[in-house]
Amino acid sequence: MAKFSVLFVCLGNICRSPTAEGIFKHKLNQTELSDLVFVDSAGTSAHHVGEFPDQRAQEEARKIGYDLSFIRSRQIRDVDFHEFDLLVAMDNSNYHNLLDAAPEVEYQDKVKLFLADYAPHLSKREVPDPYYGGKQGFSEVIKLIEAASDGLIEELRRIHNK
Ligand code: 4NP
Repeated sequence: MAKFSVLFVCLGNICRSPTAEGIFKHKLNQTELSDLVFVDSAGTSAHHVGEFPDQRAQEEARKIGYDLSFIRSRQIRDVDFHEFDLLVAMDNSNYHNLLDAAPEVEYQDKVKLFLADYAPHLSKREVPDPYYGGKQGFSEVIKLIEAASDGLIEELRRIHNK
């Protein structure tokens, strides 16, 4: 069976979506779904292509056991809409950029908003952009991503009957 696949998307692919990729992979590896799901991340902008995740994102993640050092920024491609089952946006701007970029209108159904769709109990609908703030913003991003990752894993369990 082809793997189910999830692509996390933010603007630069150096703060939020690599944090989501690292945390989600870490959590997935603790479940029986780990061999069934492929996970990647990308940015809507090409601004940081080839870069490591932001140092602040890596440090805050590493403090609590998440490794992001294997990730390099890349930009979303048309083929991602075909190849991935879910394209999960961090904020409304990324979400609408993905809807606009979808090469076929059917692909728009694959586009999700991470918190709103997988952590609807939270008061926030978007993972805020931490780039221009301090460390605190990065640790908040991690908490939001942890909660929505748990929700997405529950959804994948339903899909795979696990
Ligand atoms: P990200 O954060 O979209 O979570 O990776 C940002 C990274 C870079 C910029 C903005 C947001 N930037 O303006 O360069």
